[in-house]
Order: sequence, then structure tokens, then C-alpha cells
Amino acid sequence: MPKPSNTSQHCTHLPEPSAETQAHSDRLKQLIIRNIQANGGKITFADYMNQALYAPGLGYYSAGLKKFGKQGDFITAPEISPLFSQCLAIQCLHIMQHTGQTTILEVGAGSGIMAIDIVLELEKQAQLPEQYLILELSADLRERQQQAIKARLPHLYERFEWLNHLPEKPFCGIVIANELLDAMPIHLIKLEQDKIYERHVALDQQDNFIWLDDLPQNPHLQHAAENIQQLQHTLVHLNDKPHSDYITEVNLQAIDWVKSIADILESGAMLLVDYGYTAREYYHPQRSMGTLMCHYQHHRHDDPFYLPGLQDITAHIDFSSIALAAHEAGLHITGFTTQAHFLMAGGLVELTQDLNPDDIIPFTETARQIKMLTLPEEMGELFKVILLATDKTLSLPAFQFQDFKNRL
Ligand SMILES: C[S@@+](CC[C@H](N)C(=O)[O-])C[C@H]1O[C@@H](n2cnc3c(N)ncnc32)[C@H](O)[C@@H]1O
Repeated sequence: MPKPSNTSQHCTHLPEPSAETQAHSDRLKQLIIRNIQANGGKITFADYMNQALYAPGLGYYSAGLKKFGKQGDFITAPEISPLFSQCLAIQCLHIMQHTGQTTILEVGAGSGIMAIDIVLELEKQAQLPEQYLILELSADLRERQQQAIKARLPHLYERFEWLNHLPEKPFCGIVIANELLDAMPIHLIKLEQDKIYERHVALDQQDNFIWLDDLPQNPHLQHAAENIQQLQHTLVHLNDKPHSDYITEVNLQAIDWVKSIADILESGAMLLVDYGYTAREYYHPQRSMGTLMCHYQHHRHDDPFYLPGLQDITAHIDFSSIALAAHEAGLHITGFTTQAHFLMAGGLVELTQDLNPDDIIPFTETARQIKMLTLPEEMGELFKVILLATDKTLSLPAFQFQDFKNRL
């Protein structure tokens, strides 16, 4: 039986939206309400998140709000420092030399800054990619990427091309993405002893969003949830913990996306950076409320019903499920490490060795950026990099300090 639970709590400590942005959020809320009504009174959380982030013209990523950086809601590694993208460029160069493929496809390119810094570094090394393709879901971000790249790289603009869908099979090249998978809509599940529920979004009498737990209808979700439940039981037993209700996420879209890339990739590799854990860490009994997180003007909270369209909604990545999907689709897992190890082994030291400590302002600014990218309490440990390749002998310097692929 469907089980309704409490309405969302108001996030009273968060900054108030302006009248204009509140009206924007209200329009999106009305759209989602109509959608719920048209679907018999409930939609899956994945459908809710999809509309909250990507409803044309209204969703968080589809509307014209500033999202990245100081004036936005969160900051990503390429926005913190060009060093991040320069290290990625150096690893792309190794892949190009190993595979002979010189096309790069970036998926979910945000402001376009990573594309700019990667191409600038490859130009410096006289190893420009034949083409730099970008696949971006948000029409608004795509336009901003085009403007930014035209302004910063007018002489190389011809090499860029924006795609409307994945390239046709066979694709030869390097696929890169930073914080793409965490922006994909996730299914929420609730495990109660031997029962499995999927969390849906429904409406109370005042048309507020409320949770409604019901049996999963999607067989892929049911299958994934059963595997998680089994792992859960083992981990509860190993950690000597009492059983309790457990809410967590399943990112079916990320799994399908990895499979579709594997399907078209004839020769090359995929380098993905995101925050997350291996399955044993992800589904640890202590993480009983999952990893769903919202970002609103640099405040973090856990209420996805708060101001839809004005805040980011995200969940961590289960890298074991990504590795399994890639393996089943015929790719080799040729590297998995933390962002800190990836950058330290992947060129960060060489890129910064000529910095002059007497040049105090740029020196301290670069030191600050490196700390944010690499310290364990910042992005260094939570963020991981995974390399999936068509050739199992592909080995990159960036994975040579530490490679944790046997923990996946
Ligand atoms: C969290 S942002 C990261 C942006 C950028 N990579 C960065 O690191 O700053 C997620 C990006 O992925 C895009 N996106 C999400 N799902 C996508 C999909 N299925 N295909 C292409 N782009 C997608 C979003 O529109 C947004 O540009």
C-alpha cells in the first residue's frame, strides 16, 4: 500500500528569494503539480527531480540563473582553478598518444570553463584535438558555453561543435565529464526489513509536495534495490548494527548513460570525475538517510521540495555500479582514484613548480586553489576519478600514485 509521510519542512535559515525568483519557482511548482495530478496523484522522485532541474525554461539547469561560482549556488573544480582542467588535458594527451584518437567529447560542460582550459593547455603543448565536441542538455548553458568559448578562444572556435545527442556508433575518442552523473535524476528507495518501497512525490490538501512510498514499478529499480538490500543486510551483520529503515538512491540514468557511451565507443576512453563512494561505503548502515543534497546560494540542506527551480538537487555516485555497467558493456576499468591522487600524480606538481613564492598574490591564490582541490576535508577525497577504456593496457600517470579499482 502507498504510505504517505510528512510534508517538507521549511528551510527557515536560507536566504529569501526575490519576488521575481519566487514567481519563477511558483511557475515550476504549478507545472509539477499539474504533472502529479495528470499522473493519478503521484510521480516518482526521479520524475520530480527531472522537472525541478531540466523542465524547459523553468528547471534549475534550463533557466537563466547563475549557478556556478561565487554568485551561484555551488562551485565545481574547473571553476576553482585552471590547474584541474590542465591536469585533465595532460591525461587526455596520454590517451591520445596511446589510442591515436584525437577527438574529445565533453558531456555537461556547465559554464564552458573546463573546455577552454583543456584546449588552452593542449594548444600550449602543440597537441590540439582534431575536434572538441560538447553535449549539453541545457539550452541556456549551451548558449553561455558558446559565448564564453567565442570570447576566450576565437582562433579555435571552429574546432568546437555542439551535439544534440550522443554521436553515432562507431565513435573514436575521449569522453570526459566533471560532475555530470551527480546531476542526473535519481530514484529514491526506502528499505524496511524485507520490504522495498520507491519514494514518490504526491500532494497534500494545500498542494504542498509530500512523500508517498509505494512498490517500485520499474523492474530495473526493483533489481537494483534487491541487490542493495542484500548488501545492506551483509553490512548490518558485519558492523553488528540493529536493522533500521534505510533511505537511499539508485542512479539508473547514470548506469544507462555509461552503457550508451560504451555501446558507441569503438576506440578510446571515458574519464569521469564526480563525488561518491564504492558500493560498500555508499550503502554503509550509518548512511541511513542517503546522500540526497540541495545547494542554494552556497547553503546545503536536504529538502528537495524547497523552491523548485532555484536550487540544485544532487546525490553522490555509487562508483561500483558505474564500473559494473561499463564492464558489462565491454569496457575495461583501467583506473579509479581520489581527485587528490589523480591531480598530484597527473601533473599538478610539474604545472606549479615555476611559481615564484615572492610573487605573493598569485602564489597564495594558487596555494588556496590547490588546497581546495586536494585537501581531504575539501574535494580531495570525496571526489573520485574513474577511467573506462576500450583497451585494457591503457595506463595513465594520474593513477600511478594510488589506484583503488580493486575496491570497486
Ligand atoms: C553540476 S553541473 C557541472 C558542470 C561542469 N561540468 C562543471 O564541472 O562545472 C552538471 C552539468 O551537466 C549537464 N547535464 C546533466 N545531464 C546531462 C545529460 N544527460 N547530457 C548532457 N548534459 C547534461 C547540466 O546541464 C550541467 O551543465
